[in-house]
Amino acid sequence: MRSHGARVATALAALLTLTTTTSASLVHITSYAGTLTTLSLTLGTGSEITTQSTLQSVAATTECGTNPGWLTLVGDILYCLDEGFGKPNGTLASFRVAPNNGQLTLLNKVPTIAGPVSAVVFGAGGRGLAIADYQGSGINTFSIADPTTLTPLQSDVFRLSRPGTNPQRQDAPHPHQAILDPTGAFLIVPDLGADLIRIFALNSTTLAYRAVTALATAPGSGPRHAAFVPGTGGKTFFYVINELDNTLVGYDVIYNVNSTLSFRQLFRTSTHGDASTRPSGTTAAEILVAPGNPPFLILSSRFERTLSAPSFNSSGSIPSDPLITFSVDVTTGMVAHRQTRAAGGVNPRHFSLNKDGTLVGVGLQSDGRAVVIQRDPGSGLLGEIIADVEVEGEVNCFVWDEEER
Ligand SMILES: *[C@@H]1O[C@H](CO)[C@@H](O)[C@H](O)[C@H]1NC(C)=O
Ligand SMILES: *[C@@H]1O[C@H](CO)[C@@H](O)[C@H](O)[C@H]1NC(C)=O
Ligand SMILES: *[C@@H]1O[C@H](CO)[C@@H](O)[C@H](O)[C@H]1NC(C)=O
Ligand SMILES: *[C@@H]1O[C@H](CO)[C@@H](O)[C@H](O)[C@H]1NC(C)=O
Repeated sequence: MRSHGARVATALAALLTLTTTTSASLVHITSYAGTLTTLSLTLGTGSEITTQSTLQSVAATTECGTNPGWLTLVGDILYCLDEGFGKPNGTLASFRVAPNNGQLTLLNKVPTIAGPVSAVVFGAGGRGLAIADYQGSGINTFSIADPTTLTPLQSDVFRLSRPGTNPQRQDAPHPHQAILDPTGAFLIVPDLGADLIRIFALNSTTLAYRAVTALATAPGSGPRHAAFVPGTGGKTFFYVINELDNTLVGYDVIYNVNSTLSFRQLFRTSTHGDASTRPSGTTAAEILVAPGNPPFLILSSRFERTLSAPSFNSSGSIPSDPLITFSVDVTTGMVAHRQTRAAGGVNPRHFSLNKDGTLVGVGLQSDGRAVVIQRDPGSGLLGEIIADVEVEGEVNCFVWDEEER
């Protein structure tokens, strides 16, 4: 990654010579239509970033499966999860991303428990991949030491003795995400169906996991995704976005000497940080930590349609859901609402930030579109949508590829 100074220098050079130097990076997106697409983002220089940036398809494959929904990039290896709607198993596929042109070559493909939706790399040397399987109520781990030979390690299927508070959505356990705590010693799996944050102690050498005491969330909350923020004085804060009751809940994490985690709830607020009501059908989706001083949390919420964004293919505007930014007090773990901004359309299921936190890529699942929004890491505020692309089907994952190759 180039330094800020280098970018300023490039911008100056562009001004002096009156040429339009541009910089390009790759992104990868998945769509439930069955495609894994590599896009090239070309940024316009200086003030022309809003008018001259483009997002264009440069490569696509259908080899991930029929319903790809999650990507994890490690160096030049892209891991793709296929939910495989209606099939007894999902799949994990590995692709090599070619330098320069972003072409994808399938290396290996193995079955998972049904409906894998999220993955995280774990273990010494990044040799393990842990996967949350929504439809099949389980988790899988694989060795990815050799990405051409993905090797199953461990798996578990969870059960509920009776349906949860929301019997339609909580008919069974539904693990929705796999993340690590900041030490990498614990695998954290929000389970939307069971109202639990499942916690597993990891052995980073053997790659084995072992279930330890879970964190129960409020009945009917439906925990979907979560994020950690390191605090001052050795503190660790943990934030959960609950899909079914549309809440954001913050916790103080306690590392016990017996290799378990305890949690002290700090606050519980709506995903908008206030007490106002949301349209029925609103479902919270993503939560990410965004760089800044203080750090920020960005949340997405779906099916509200209460904001508007400029139409991308005609004049006028289209309905939009929000991205909501909170600042984090790293001493107390408390959050403060900073901004609610149109995501660029409906159903921003997934979004992610580039490395320096200046751009947010958003997959708008219901609109079949991906957009890139400017962000100021200092203030935490999102700005203009600078690039967009229409993609067949439902765009559900957006991953930046800024690897040096
Ligand atoms: C594939 O699905 C079957 C049936 O649910 C399950 O028993 C099996 O463990 C799955 N395979 C993997 C690799 O998870
Ligand atoms: C990991 O497993 C190895 C081999 O069984 C064992 O020696 C080590 O103590 C384990 N580490 C942890 C943190 O449990
Ligand atoms: C681990 O330690 C915590 C804190 O002292 C305690 O509450 C918990 O019961 C212990 N768990 C086990 C499995 O020993
Ligand atoms: C414009 O975009 C909307 C929303 O994505 C879509 O429904 C519509 O078909 C598009 N119209 C044209 C003319 O492409």
